[in-house]
Amino acid sequence: MESLIEDLSVLDGSEQCETIKVTQDQHTGKKRKLYIESYGCQMNFSDSEIVASILHKEGFDTTSDIALADVVFLNTCSIREKAEQTVRKRLAQINTHKKQRPEMLVGVLGCMAERLKTKLLEEEKIVDLVAGPDAYRDLPALIAQVDEGQKAVNTFLSREETYADISPVRLNSNGVTAFISIMRGCDNMCTFCVVPFTRGRERSRDPHSIVAEAVDLFNHGYREVTLLGQNVDSYKWSEEENNKAYLERKGIENVVNFAGLLEMVAQVSPLLRVRFSTSHPKDITDEVLHTMARHENICKNIHLPVQSGNSRILDMMGRGYTREWYLQRVQRIREILGEDCGITSDMITGFCTETDEEHRETLSLMEYVKYDFAFMFFYSERPGTLAAKKFVDDIPEEIKKRRLQEIIQLQTELSLKRNQRDVGKVHQVLIEGYSRKSEDFLQGRNTANKVVVFPKENFEKGQYINVLVHDCTAATLLGKAVNN
Ligand code: SAH
Ligand code: SF4
Ligand code: F3S
Repeated sequence: MESLIEDLSVLDGSEQCETIKVTQDQHTGKKRKLYIESYGCQMNFSDSEIVASILHKEGFDTTSDIALADVVFLNTCSIREKAEQTVRKRLAQINTHKKQRPEMLVGVLGCMAERLKTKLLEEEKIVDLVAGPDAYRDLPALIAQVDEGQKAVNTFLSREETYADISPVRLNSNGVTAFISIMRGCDNMCTFCVVPFTRGRERSRDPHSIVAEAVDLFNHGYREVTLLGQNVDSYKWSEEENNKAYLERKGIENVVNFAGLLEMVAQVSPLLRVRFSTSHPKDITDEVLHTMARHENICKNIHLPVQSGNSRILDMMGRGYTREWYLQRVQRIREILGEDCGITSDMITGFCTETDEEHRETLSLMEYVKYDFAFMFFYSERPGTLAAKKFVDDIPEEIKKRRLQEIIQLQTELSLKRNQRDVGKVHQVLIEGYSRKSEDFLQGRNTANKVVVFPKENFEKGQYINVLVHDCTAATLLGKAVNN
């Protein structure tokens, strides 16, 4: 997960949704310029690449300079209240640009667009266009509608749309690592979560198009793909008439599950690393773990969000597993993939009715699992969710924040301890580019998704090299290339 680098700030409590990515420049001589900012999760970053691709065909180049843009899109997130506040603040800033250039079209895409629909037009006067996550093919028509002087909205959620045939324009790319969406939506209805409402029903993308995208990326020099879905373990694609021949040729049965897909992508090339996110503790199978063990190029890191260490809270959250079940899954990961396999998590503190004792069960579970990294949040009630309807958001903010501080502090200690285990060992690293602090250093990640920084020497991005780690912080491993 790229956000593990982007979001090291999460260790001090800031949120994943604060991450903003802006478009890179494209100069292919198209007439109009698109500027797009993405908020929230990797799904949104991946969707922005689909949007750029759709508009590229319609005569748009992307720009990183908002002052040059004809169309400005914010691809938004609704996961916590703060994520929506960030977008509203940004819209206020963009208003100053719009005052100077009233012809600039401002659109809101993504989860906040889906949640608020036409209400967004009433609440934010600056917005001309609102498009939900399944409406991106309609963007050219929606833009045309705005060109004609109307406001435009499409928040229709689809049961089929996977954008399988659209080849994304890679934005903010380092040319080495890329995301591939393998499914959309979510059917789980965790009680705290807005995603099923903003992204609609779960659907899986044709494995053939996923493998084709991975092959294309590999042929363009990419060396790592991350397969994205809200719950990758429930990936399931059934045969369609026109795919029969392909599946037979590959010897694959007529239903492809996540383990099957993983195997197919791993076979693209031993030089192409494969990662995936997010695994769901209730659904991750031994078959997936064995597939990971069989292929060296499937990275040994599992993002397995626990949310809470207490079974009563997990039940109220509708997560579909208990503390014991979760720990049993961790046990299987350790048995099949060994102690070095990275395990990362998401946690929510202060969910409705959570007692101090139940909170301490989250801390004890963390100590037991020894996570390498975690995204940690305090509960933010989302309108329309099951929790908002059924439970009272009754934990005072100071308590939520104190509990969050406690888990952040513990996780920082655990991350440091896990990283210390890596000191003195040689790690295979895929180089992604310069380190964030200096061009004399490069950085990449090891199989467990840990950032490794080392002197540049004559190495280049896209190369696999061995690095002997001699030091670490809670966030980074430091080393020097050896025996390459
Ligand atoms: N599909 C993933 C989660 C995607 S949302 C999964 O099931 O694990 C990313 C994370 O945001 C969640 O794991 C959860 O920790 C957090 N989150 C979701 N809704 C939240 C809310 N209402 N308040 C606080 N954090 C929330
Ligand atoms: Fe939200 Fe649960 Fe779906 Fe994750 S699995 S996106 S937390 S409903
Ligand atoms: Fe946010 Fe939507 Fe992703 S709510 S976390 S952008 S699926």
